[in-house]
Amino acid sequence: MDKKVIFFEVRGGTDKGPDGYRQDTMPMVNALKQRGQDAEVIFFDVTKKEEIYHYVKEHGAAFVSRINPGNLQHEEEYFDMLRELCNEGVIGMPHPDAMIGYGSKDVLSKLSSTNLVPNDTFAYYTVEAFKAQFPTSLAITERVLKQNRGSTGEGIWRVKLVEPLAKGITEVPLDAEIKCTEAKDNHVEYWKLGDFMTFCEQYITGPNGMLIDMRFLPRITEGEIRLFMLRDKAVHVVHKKPADSEDAFSATLFSGAQYRYDAPEDWEELVQNFLTQLPLVTSLLGNYALPLIWTADFMLDTNEAGEDCYILGEMNCSCVGFTSELSLAHQVAEEILSCIHENAEVSA
Ligand SMILES: Nc1ncnc2c1ncn2[C@@H]1O[C@H](COP(=O)(O)OP(=O)(O)O)[C@@H](O)[C@H]1O
Ligand SMILES: [Mg+2]
Repeated sequence: MDKKVIFFEVRGGTDKGPDGYRQDTMPMVNALKQRGQDAEVIFFDVTKKEEIYHYVKEHGAAFVSRINPGNLQHEEEYFDMLRELCNEGVIGMPHPDAMIGYGSKDVLSKLSSTNLVPNDTFAYYTVEAFKAQFPTSLAITERVLKQNRGSTGEGIWRVKLVEPLAKGITEVPLDAEIKCTEAKDNHVEYWKLGDFMTFCEQYITGPNGMLIDMRFLPRITEGEIRLFMLRDKAVHVVHKKPADSEDAFSATLFSGAQYRYDAPEDWEELVQNFLTQLPLVTSLLGNYALPLIWTADFMLDTNEAGEDCYILGEMNCSCVGFTSELSLAHQVAEEILSCIHENAEVSA
């Protein structure tokens, strides 16, 4: 009997349509069925974990995870189950550790050797490391600090010195005044550097805690460019232009950014460079197969030769939605089928 493609969801959450599913799930299920591939949605429930595991192990050719981390209460158990399914030969689209790795903010420090990220990009996993480096980073240039947990600009801070440093000083003193703008809503707060760093310790401690320290890219005012990816193909582009107000640097809808939908052909140079870098990206991120549905967000910068270049800001791959572009479900279905065929050839 032919095996199924399993879509995992959870009950509840604001991402569901009237039928209880995410609105982009059934279009994928139906697109697969139209192509003769059976598919089914299973709602993950930790109390039924064993039952679900055995069912998918037996009947699943592949799984696609469609669960927003914010809606998932038993994340550890869920990822453990997905890992075991991958070990049993069910194809993870993606493997849970790829999902965690690509979605984590420290992709930036892991990719700092590529031309996608400035090489003065740091990840702090301890308060000590943060204290040791950040005052030096800030002495070089305006910075953006990014927490790993959360999204939509919360705990993403643009940090700027109020007064320029005196010549020759390579470390900002802890009593220096700084201007901090949060990407959530572009609101501004003034702090002493030392106090702000103490405030930021909350982002480093606790599960998945870390802070990313990256140079501020002023051309963010020209927009953030989101590539919507199906494995190694860029299939759709969203251009997000921050609000026009002073200090505004956020590309989130809530902060007033304007969205525009483009074709990958409109961003040929960016797409070509990124695709060229993909083998290196995969190897630096742990050599997992590329995720099925994922995004990479870029900002414009100017290189030493005075030419445009594109800097990676973050990637997402836990549950990238495409409700506003449901026709993509057919391309997703084609991609799932190719992936199943490729795996069958490898194991044959
Ligand atoms: N290095 C940077 N320079 C300028 N703006 C940035 C930089 N990094 C992030 N931003 C802005 O902050 C926003 C939120 O940061 P991001 O890393 O995407 O976190 P989130 O997970 O909250 O979306 C981005 O959409 C972008 O507008
Ligand atoms: Mg973002």
